[in-house]
Amino acid sequence: MPGNVVLVGFMGAGKSACGRLLARRLGRCFVETDDMIVGRDGRAIPEIFRQAGEEAFRRLETEAVEALALKSDDVIATGGGLPCREGRMEALRALGTVVWLRGDLDELLGRARRGGHRPMLDDRTPVEIDALYRAREPYYAQAHLTVDTAGLTIDQVVHRIVAALREAHARV
Ligand code: S3P
Repeated sequence: MPGNVVLVGFMGAGKSACGRLLARRLGRCFVETDDMIVGRDGRAIPEIFRQAGEEAFRRLETEAVEALALKSDDVIATGGGLPCREGRMEALRALGTVVWLRGDLDELLGRARRGGHRPMLDDRTPVEIDALYRAREPYYAQAHLTVDTAGLTIDQVVHRIVAALREAHARV
């Protein structure tokens, strides 16, 4: 399976947890775009949103995507909003195999809220969050592979990702 494996999906999809385990299973390094941003900027993500705003954060994401060009056989977890801008999915697809971790929105939100502060969920009504999710879906859907995660454990999701990668790479 040559190239990077890039995980995309909404907040709470399990990109970090599954990515870390997947990297271990495949014997690869694990990278997170959010960590790259925090490492470079020096502030935590909620601080960046609070002090500089969403657009400033999205510019940092652009820099992180550019820096990913140096990666060759890693597992890369992206922030939930990273793929959802013009040209971003094309850039991610050029890095390797992009996998969308698709989930049930209620389940995703429950997990996202338990997993620390997500500025994109602050002050948004359920209707607005639903609209955000719907607006993002067409971007995620441009992934090479989609893995349904609803009701599954991290271990089961990783199992499915490995199977989907094997099947996809056996076809080429
Ligand atoms: C964001 C998702 C977060 C993080 C930032 C913005 C988003 O990553 O990049 O808070 O716009 O959906 P996770 O998907 O890991 O929560």
